[in-house]
Order: sequence, then C-alpha cells, then structure tokens
Amino acid sequence: MSEVSIDVHRDGAEVTESLRRDVREGLSARPKWLPSKWFYDAMGSELFDRITTLPEYYPTRAEREILARRATEITATSGMRTLVELGSGSSEKTRLLLAAGTAHGTLREFVPLDVSSSALSASARAVAAEYPRVAVHGVVGDFTAHLETLPGSAPRLVAFLGGTIGNLVPAERAKFLASVRAVLGAGEWLLLGTDLVKDTDTLLRAYDDSRGVTAEFNRNVLRVVNTHLGADFDPAAFDHVAHWDDRREWIEMRLAARRPMTVSIPGADLTVRFERGEYVRTEISAKFRPEGVRAELADAGFAVRRWWTDRKGRFGVCLAQVRD
Ligand code: SAH
Ligand code: TRP
Repeated sequence: MSEVSIDVHRDGAEVTESLRRDVREGLSARPKWLPSKWFYDAMGSELFDRITTLPEYYPTRAEREILARRATEITATSGMRTLVELGSGSSEKTRLLLAAGTAHGTLREFVPLDVSSSALSASARAVAAEYPRVAVHGVVGDFTAHLETLPGSAPRLVAFLGGTIGNLVPAERAKFLASVRAVLGAGEWLLLGTDLVKDTDTLLRAYDDSRGVTAEFNRNVLRVVNTHLGADFDPAAFDHVAHWDDRREWIEMRLAARRPMTVSIPGADLTVRFERGEYVRTEISAKFRPEGVRAELADAGFAVRRWWTDRKGRFGVCLAQVRD
C-alpha cells in the first residue's frame, strides 16, 4: 500500500451553511432549482455507480472504450508525473490511466478531488492498495471553488471525465476551464470527457432508465435536504422527469410535484409551496459537438492535441495542453 493522505476543504458546518444558502436561493427562484453537487452523499454516490452499469447509460462504457484504447498514448504524450482527477467518484475508468502511467514509469502521484467524502476515501484507499508505487493525495472539495492550488509535480494531467463538464452551464464552464488553466503551468495537460449530441431517444433513455435507478438518484437530493436541514420533503411525492432542451442541447433533470404541497425547511428558515406539476430543476447535462469543445478550450487557453470518440461516435475524449 502506498502513502495516502486526504485533505478536507470544508468541515461539516461549512457544508451545511453552503447547502442552506443554495436551498434558500434555489427554492425561492422561479422555476425552482438546486445545484447538482448536492446529489452526492454516500447514498447518492452509490446510486450514481449503479447508473454507470445500466444498459441505457452508455456514456461510461463509451468513455471506458476510448480510455482502454488510448491510455498508453495519453501517458506517453503527456509524460504525466501527477494525475489529478476532478469529480473522481469511484475512479473506476481512471485505473486505465493509472495502469498505463505506472507501466510507462513516469507516474508518481494521484490526486483525486470530489465533494463526496465517502466516495473519495474509499477510492483513494483502493487505488493506494492497487498501485503501491503511486502516492495518493485525496482532496474533499468543490471543483468550482477549490482549485486555487493543486498538489503534485509537473507535468500534471488533469482528468475531468464522465461528461461532468456538461453539468455546468456555459458561463460556469468558461469560469471553470479558466480556473483549471490558472492552476496549470505552460505545457501541462487536461483530459476532458464530453458526451456528444445524438438522437433524442438515446439521450432521454440514458437519463430515465427502465429500472428507476436514475429516478431514485434524482430524488436523493431531497433526502440530503431532509437530513441536513431538517426538511420534510416526501421524495415519493415527486416524479423524476428528464427533458431534452433542443435549443440549448442539454438534458434537464427535474423533480415534479405530484400534488400541491407545502414543505417546511427549518434549517433554512424556509417554507416552500408547490403547485401540482411544479418542478425543481436539479441538473443539466449538456451534450457537445467537437467544434464547440475546441472553441471552449481555446477560449480558456488550451490547445487540443488529440480528439477521440468511441466506435459508435457517442462520446468524445480530448487531450488538451496549456498554450505557452
Ligand atoms: N468521474 C466519475 C464520476 C462522475 S459523476 C465518472 O466518470 O464516472 C460526477 C462526480 O463529480 C461525482 O463523484 C460527484 O460527487 C462529483 N462532483 C459533482 N459536483 C462536484 C463539485 N462541484 N465539486 C467536486 N466534485 C463534484
Ligand atoms: N455527470 C453525469 C451525467 O451528466 C451525471 C448524471 C448521470 C446524472 N445521470 C444522472 C445526474 C441523472 C442527474 C440525474 O451524465
């Protein structure tokens, strides 16, 4: 087992305070919304791992196919000494990069960062046991807020997989990519996974599976608000809805009230009224076109060095480098 350390950027009280602020803002807005990072407590992370194994949820398999084919090339091209992973979750596909980096002999350190402390500590320990020559330095934090510094020696490769970049709206993406650029030096690397625009039916099924796992995952955000803010949401009183926005090319996840109701949220000093059918927007998952990915990366100061898709063209992975 190699060395493992875990830094925690926010303690429990700060997490509750930030949830309180998000709940007050989002549930007072019209339409109501909640930020998607609140899905991921221990149960949310477990439900997400189940989503990745569903027949309808193609992105994980498509991205794994690309990484399996290209891991050696990614390692050799970047010469990475440190692999940073943002929104690392279980780091399941990342093991392809860890294995290639170890075989290539350059990789020294792995830095997974995630808001979910349970997912992070489990995967950090598992990776340390499986890759004894790689030091593991986990960070519990928010990738939209805690990127001022990243540990590890250059050249670093920052992996942002799973299409998670699509969970940010365009303005948030620009800010996020600029902050990644700002912590990297010239010549360092970003490996970005993006889900691609495709037929609506395939997209909708990926976010509304027949077993109802995605629906339970979506409702989990209400359980998180109940637990941390003493709210009395009845998750069963909300329908899971996946909606394709054709103009903005994103899937929007919603929780729609099945009946009129009033929910009390004492920890946020808030009472929220729902009409029948009124919804909370819980997440967007934007789908990309190759030229759009290139343009967003160029605006943030990255040059695309490689672009790959899976054989069916469903998902894209791009290896980009900080321009001098
Ligand atoms: N990278 C994994 C998991 C993707 S799911 C994969 O490709 O399968 C999104 C992951 O990002 C979850 O592990 C979630 O806990 C984490 N996450 C979501 N919002 C975050 C934020 N603002 N900061 C840090 N991690 C976040
Ligand atoms: N990053 C994942 C994605 O956009 C997250 C996700 C998958 C998700 N299925 C979901 C979020 C269902 C909310 C609801 O694909």
